[in-house]
Amino acid sequence: MVETEEFIAEAKAEIREAIGDANAVIALSGGVDSSVAATLAYEAVGDQLTPVYVDTGLMRKGETAEIRDTFSFMESLRVIEAQDRFFERLDGVTDPEEKRHVIGEGFIDEFETVARDVDADYLVQGTIYPDRIESEGNIKSHHNVGGLPEVVDFEGIVEPVRDLYKDEVREVARALGLEEIISERMPFPGPGLAVRIVGEVTPEKAAVAREATHVVEEELEEYDPWQAFAAVLGKATGVKGDNRVHGWVVAVRSVESRDGMTARAQEIDWSTLQRIQSRITGENENVARVVYDVTHKPPATIEYE
Ligand code: XMP
Repeated sequence: MVETEEFIAEAKAEIREAIGDANAVIALSGGVDSSVAATLAYEAVGDQLTPVYVDTGLMRKGETAEIRDTFSFMESLRVIEAQDRFFERLDGVTDPEEKRHVIGEGFIDEFETVARDVDADYLVQGTIYPDRIESEGNIKSHHNVGGLPEVVDFEGIVEPVRDLYKDEVREVARALGLEEIISERMPFPGPGLAVRIVGEVTPEKAAVAREATHVVEEELEEYDPWQAFAAVLGKATGVKGDNRVHGWVVAVRSVESRDGMTARAQEIDWSTLQRIQSRITGENENVARVVYDVTHKPPATIEYE
């Protein structure tokens, strides 16, 4: 704990020194990494920092309301309702990397507008150690706000948690007094539900992924997974009432991991899986079946795209 307190004091001093009297922006995603980076930076420089939360329409259930609530102490917080703009950009896009690219560009456009508006010279990011390794290895384009520095001519980028692993970030979150909903939260990918939707991203598929992921998170809490969620795979035949329907196939995934680089599919009780199945098909009339993914990483990845 002493080490954590020391880390916090040093990180704040480093942020203050880097930013000085200038203005900064940070993308707040609701995840623990950006929440910790934003809180450290806000405690360091106050309203010189503008935290920006973009609702892409691909967020977890209730996320936007939680953000407004949890970070209400940040007077400079901006919540941007950009759902329609993101779905429009994603119209017809099916390639996974293209999706990431389109979403990344969308973020950049939204941020650029705010960064210019508040005259920000610095960009604060919640990049953690495994993100840097994966980006260097080019396993996939980690968008975060990766391309923003090319668009806005920042004087510098500040990454206060760049050397930490996820479990260390959580420790800092607890020490900062962030609510459990943030500190103990499962990692959520930058492109949001888009990487849990195979093929084109539509508002309908996003709604199914969001509702089903909520059920999975609730039902699997006691298994303490590193990540547990639902993905929308495609369509298949089912029977609802007296009718055959062509509905969505939802995959349930629950994995154990330390840093996301490798992962093991969790063994879940049949009765729990059945409860999840029954809730997801019951609560979403356009879901025809639910499957459980037993694949480790490798050979699979954690997300679907
Ligand atoms: P994969 O699917 O590659 O995921 O096994 C490893 C970890 O990274 C998260 N993830 C992402 N995070 N942008 C992110 O910020 C992305 O494009 C992205 N893709 C995957 C995933 O949720 C898991 O924690």
